[in-house]
Amino acid sequence: MKKKLIVANWKMNPTTLKQAEGIVKRYKDVSNLVVCPPFVFLNSIKLNKVQLGAQNCFWLNEGSFTGEVSPAMLKSIGCKYVILGHFERRSIFKEDNKTINLKVKACLKSNLNVILCISELKQLKKSLDGIERLNKVIIAYEPAWAIGTGKACSTSLAEKKRLLIKELFPSCRVLYGGSVNEDNYLDYNNFDGLLVGELSLKKEFNSIL
Ligand code: PGA
Repeated sequence: MKKKLIVANWKMNPTTLKQAEGIVKRYKDVSNLVVCPPFVFLNSIKLNKVQLGAQNCFWLNEGSFTGEVSPAMLKSIGCKYVILGHFERRSIFKEDNKTINLKVKACLKSNLNVILCISELKQLKKSLDGIERLNKVIIAYEPAWAIGTGKACSTSLAEKKRLLIKELFPSCRVLYGGSVNEDNYLDYNNFDGLLVGELSLKKEFNSIL
């Protein structure tokens, strides 16, 4: 059986490179961990077995797109994963399924593994429309109300959603995300792994690795 994939989503934290280095230093050096720091820290933090991921990406590789970062750029610095369609991207930055679909296609073309976040199942088909290399797509089920609230999804509801996602996309690994902590992470043992926000910045994170 494949090892569980643990994705650390730092969001817009921490404030300094020194702090970022400190967080990574604390992590167990395991190959099933993907750390996703802010773009500015991607190229500076030193990793051994732990893998590198980005939190977002544009859908073209170069050009006049001020402020954006491309799949080719991520690839060139050794990034293997990219989170796309996170709830915060959808709600704060108004990214829709069409945009996310363009990003998924572009990242797969650059051979990046995509961690596609959804909070509702209806986002799934449109975000993955026309995509063939589904073996490189990992779906993260993260109910909007569970993200950063301390109110994790019940095991039974999460399991129901996991099965529905597997029915639609059997070749994709499925992660759970939303208020995962050191006390509840085993509730999602049927999933292929976890997408972890707040806990991934704390020293207690090691206990789930
Ligand atoms: P959380 O965030 O673990 O802090 O709830 C999860 C996420 O947003 O990916």
